[in-house]
Amino acid sequence: MARIVLLHALVLFLFTFTSAIAEAVTLNVVNFGAKPDGETDSTNAFVSAWGRACSSTAPTTIYVPLGRFLVGKVVFKGRCNNKGITIRIDGAMLAPSNYDVIGNGGNWLFFDDVDGVSIIGGVLDGQGTGLWACKRSGKTCPTGATNLGFTNSNNIVINGVTSLNSQMFHIVIDRCNNVKLQGIKVSAAGNSPNTDGIHVQLSSTVTILNSNIATGDDCISIGPGTTNLWIENIACGPGHGISVGSLGKEFQEPGVQNVTVKTMTFTGTENGVRIKSWGRPSNGFARNILFQHATMVNVQNPIVIDQNYCPHEKNCPGQVSGVEVSNVIYQDIYGTSATEIAVKINCSPKYPCIGISLEDVMLTYESKQAVASCNHAGGITSGVVQPNNCF
Ligand SMILES: *[C@@H]1O[C@H](CO)[C@@H](O)[C@H](O)[C@H]1NC(C)=O
Repeated sequence: MARIVLLHALVLFLFTFTSAIAEAVTLNVVNFGAKPDGETDSTNAFVSAWGRACSSTAPTTIYVPLGRFLVGKVVFKGRCNNKGITIRIDGAMLAPSNYDVIGNGGNWLFFDDVDGVSIIGGVLDGQGTGLWACKRSGKTCPTGATNLGFTNSNNIVINGVTSLNSQMFHIVIDRCNNVKLQGIKVSAAGNSPNTDGIHVQLSSTVTILNSNIATGDDCISIGPGTTNLWIENIACGPGHGISVGSLGKEFQEPGVQNVTVKTMTFTGTENGVRIKSWGRPSNGFARNILFQHATMVNVQNPIVIDQNYCPHEKNCPGQVSGVEVSNVIYQDIYGTSATEIAVKINCSPKYPCIGISLEDVMLTYESKQAVASCNHAGGITSGVVQPNNCF
């Protein structure tokens, strides 16, 4: 009896194993009607290829060959039977240049409720310049679409992807778990509005490695409900730096905790490393954050905590932030500030920042000594710290 069970298990194993190999499938979008001419609308080809991949149980690669593929909004919707879908892109995907087509749709390429999806290579061109011009002219314009969005998804890899000229944020990770981004390149004009490079929120175990981000807003922004985030080896600039926040916009808000940001270069950016919260009541928080090994090259505000964020003095005048900021370590941060105040820690009078640690911080302003400006902040310094008039 035992032998029969064993034999049965072996047969089952071999069957599963060989059928998985036999069935690994590649779907070339051209075979679904996509045209690499940059003009023909190929949206339906992507939707069909995704449908096929999603309903299959075999590991499936959707292949986008060289060429330029014009696509409108595509929703890559789960749940799928498949937990191994790779989208391998050798060419470029282009959003419609008329911003009215996708500008009110939130996202251009949107993955919802998927598990085990990898995107490898390729250029995602949001063609956002028209929308930016509209916004700058003061006319009424669509909000704009995020180039690449993931929501409610797990076990995601985004590797070697270039995101160009998104209308709004370039890449958004929302309500996801276990996401690895690496070798990402983001490129948009330094004056393009709201074009954050990578935004993470309500997500856990996200890793962002070895990436180069040049854009008009935050290089990486970290929203409420982000935990266990690891960011390493990023070049940022132009842009607004790396920002935890804005936090505390809502009263009920999940906090941010356990964030590591290491080995960064900021070049000509508005901020280096920043934590910001609205000057409004909130139960949000930011704690256990490490900023380690950062080089600042002519950065306007290299180190900032701003708990009094209130754009246009609307919906918050006279209020103080309820967001508790604690246990934030700045370690080995050096370089040049483009303004005299290189360290600005401006916390809430009601919830002062606590456990701020400056260790080996060396920032200069025009080869002079820079200064620090700190309010309602408690902490310690160690090693060589300049400026050193905070605590
Ligand atoms: C913090 O996050 C990292 C991943 O970025 C993880 O490896 C580590 O276990 C987390 N630490 C805690 C205390 O949760």
